Amino acid sequence: MLNIVIFGPPGSGKGTQSTKIVEKYNLIHLSTGDLLREEMENETPLGKEVRQYIDKGLLVPDEIVLKELYMRTSEHMDSPGFIFDGFPRTIVQAESLDEMLRKEGMSISLVISVEVEEEELHKRLMGRGEDSGRSDDSDDIIIRRLEVYKEQTLPLIAYYKKQGKMATINGMAPVDQVFGKISRAIDTYLESHKIIPVVE
Ligand code: AP5
Ligand code: MG
Repeated sequence: MLNIVIFGPPGSGKGTQSTKIVEKYNLIHLSTGDLLREEMENETPLGKEVRQYIDKGLLVPDEIVLKELYMRTSEHMDSPGFIFDGFPRTIVQAESLDEMLRKEGMSISLVISVEVEEEELHKRLMGRGEDSGRSDDSDDIIIRRLEVYKEQTLPLIAYYKKQGKMATINGMAPVDQVFGKISRAIDTYLESHKIIPVVE
């Protein structure tokens, strides 16, 4: 299996690049942000609970996110692999993911960290906010999301570096150029592990 984590601050292009990775490598895309927003749109009890965090730009508690992610992952255990987008975001989540995969005889293959300067992130998210309808794409909430990223999520870089799994990509370029660099990182991993990607 090919299990990729796409890592980066809000607005770095995780969702945009995941769509392209899924097309090329035939993986299942699991975005915790998308899953939680779906619950909010459907006004489920879970959706109502998580809204109070998402609308403030805060992280949803680990136990809620982990439960949702496990449920969705277990539905696709026969797939060629996963791309985890916006997850993990805390050390607790990263350790739990490692443990969950280990129980299934799997592991994270590669972590792709997309780096983008803060000014550009802010610009992209403000631009998207004009028509995204995302309740957290407003000026003050974007600032909070970037702060929360630095405080709670950045420490994961050291966690995955220690595991020797980090591939750092400069995300300050047009979408296709960034995807070219990500593809090369994935292909290098596949070649060095003698894995033939599943293509439909
Ligand atoms: P989540 O949905 O994960 O949002 P995020 O991390 O804040 O990131 P975004 O989705 O805003 O950005 P992205 O990196 O996907 O970039 P995108 O491709 O969209 O999380 C939302 C909330 O849910 C969190 O704040 C938290 O409350 C909760 N949550 C989610 N997961 C959680 C977890 N694991 N634990 C706890 N809580 C969790 O691109 C952004 C914009 O830039 C777009 O307009 C795009 O067109 C544009 N763009 C993309 N690439 C480029 C490029 N190369 N050049 C120019 N523009 C570009
Ligand atoms: Mg996203």
